[in-house]
Formats: sequence, C-alpha cells, structure tokens
Amino acid sequence: ERPKILVTQKIPADAYSLLHAIGEVEANMDEGVIWSPEELSRRAPGHDYLLCLLTDTIDARLLGACASASPRLKLVANMAVGYNNIDVEAATRQQIAVSNTPGILSDTTADLAFALLLATARRLPEAERFLRAGKFTGWGPLLFCGAEVHGSTLGIIGAGRIGQLMAKRASGFDMRVLYYNTKCLPADIEDAYQLTYGGLDELLSQSDFVSLHVPYASSTHHLIGERELALMKPSAILVNTARGPVVDEKALVRALQSGQIAGAGLDVFEHEPAVEPELLSMENVVLVPHIASASLKTRARMATMAAENIVAHVQGQRPPNQVNR
Ligand code: GLV
Ligand code: GLV
Repeated sequence: ERPKILVTQKIPADAYSLLHAIGEVEANMDEGVIWSPEELSRRAPGHDYLLCLLTDTIDARLLGACASASPRLKLVANMAVGYNNIDVEAATRQQIAVSNTPGILSDTTADLAFALLLATARRLPEAERFLRAGKFTGWGPLLFCGAEVHGSTLGIIGAGRIGQLMAKRASGFDMRVLYYNTKCLPADIEDAYQLTYGGLDELLSQSDFVSLHVPYASSTHHLIGERELALMKPSAILVNTARGPVVDEKALVRALQSGQIAGAGLDVFEHEPAVEPELLSMENVVLVPHIASASLKTRARMATMAAENIVAHVQGQRPPNQVNR
C-alpha cells in the first residue's frame, strides 16, 4: 500500500514530485482556495500524511478523527515555521508527529520586517498613493517627511532566529538595538549584532521602532496591549511579522487614533484574514497580507522541506523537523 498524502493548498511545484515518488497524492490545486474546517474534516481522515498550511486549523477533534480512520494519520507537516494552528499536545496524545519548516525562512522574514519598518518610517505607500493620484506637483521641502531610520533605536521582542537577523539588518543602519527575550543571548551573539538586553518596559519606552518576533502561544497572547502601547514613544512605530494575536489589535487602533504611537507596519492580524476596519483608512499604517516568507525561493524551500519530512517518515526515519516527541 502506497501511503496516502493530502496537500491542503496549492504549493510550489517541486514539492509534488517528491510526494508523488513515495505515495498517492490528493491535493487542492485551486490557487487561493482555502478549505473550510468542514471540508478539511471531510477530506483529511483516511490519509497517512497531511501537508498543511497555517490557514488550516488542526484541532483535537480533527486529529481524533484522523487517528481513528484507516489508514491512520501519522504526520502533520506544516509548511510554516509557526505551528500554533495545530494542537500539538493532542497530536502527541494520538501519537501523530508534527513538523514545521524552521531556519530557511528566517532571512526572508527579517527582510520583510525591515522593509515594513522602512516603508512605515518613510511613508512609502502613502507617498506612492499620492504620486499615482496625480498629486505630485513638484519637490517640496515638507513633502512626506518621515522618521529617520539610521541611527535610531530598534527594540526587538523575541530574539530567536528571525529576531537576531532583524538585529543584523539594523546594525547595517547604525541602529542601537535593544532586545527582550525569555532568556539572555550568549555574549558572542550580543556582541556580533551589538544587542543590549533589557526589560520589556524599558525597551518599549526607549525604542523608536519595536519589532515583534515571538512565536504565538498563550504566554504571548496580547503581549502588546493598552499598557505596553502607552509606554511607547509618541513617535514610535510598531512592526509585526510574528502573529496577529500577539498584539491587541483594538488597543493598537486606539493608540494610533490618539497619537499615542506614530505608526504601524503589519504583516499579520489578530483575526486574519479580517483586519480591524479602522486600520484600512489610516495613512500612517502599512498593511500587507501575511507575506513575510513570500519570496519564490523561500516558499519553494518551505514546500520541499515540508515534503521531505513526509518522505523521511515514509522511509522509517524521524522527520528532521519534528516538533513533538
Ligand atoms: C509564517 O507565518 C510561518 O509561520 O511560516
Ligand atoms: C533632493 O533631491 C536633494 O537633492 O536634496
């Protein structure tokens, strides 16, 4: 019996050949179509392997149904570094492995976080909308003056792989970098990127830019809320490429409306794909649709890595990026 593999969204092409070589592949080939939870629970049971995306909620109920079907589900390979869409504890209880795609998207994600920082500081989308609307009547001394990026202070919340690469980019812009993390980084890493460890409140009150790089978990839910936004400078800009619910989005709207902070660059949203409607009409906010890892090369690597975890399991090896025991 060849293993049965389900791929829940259309993914970069190379990954399919890896999967076709080892199993029977059923795949959603409609680009941009995300299966509803009902559709997923109708289709997933009876597969050995699931290659899924962060848009799929893999909860205890679905895992239970997949564990009692025949064949039984063996591995959920998430094509993402974050796996908060999967109930990993329930998977572990059902002896279902879970894997992610760490490392390969870190630079690409830091690139976009820095792009959002620059775009928000220098008001690029707003200036571009102005030009396209035919309003550019000549160079102006006051036209679209924004915040200075080089030489400013960046606060990095979550100094894992992506946070550290954000610091590396910031050091090229002569920025002072503060970081807050569950633990202090080794001295050689602090030295390499000129990182200074500090408390959350200290970081928030001193930074011109605050960039979030923590995974989402109950401990990071609304890590940035009303209290934290109130600590930030009125000139400060918040950048979020981590997960939407790390920020209390309604509190963020209020802080932006009242001028408590100056702007925000957001790649992720609390109730994605929904966005707080007030944000859509604010000029000082740059909004992109969860594309931090979206370079052609990185997405191809992510799909291949997710597929390789399935291939390893089929071949009787431990999936290299398994996140549970
Ligand atoms: C994207 O958000 C990811 O977790 O890979
Ligand atoms: C601006 O274009 C300048 O020359 O200062």
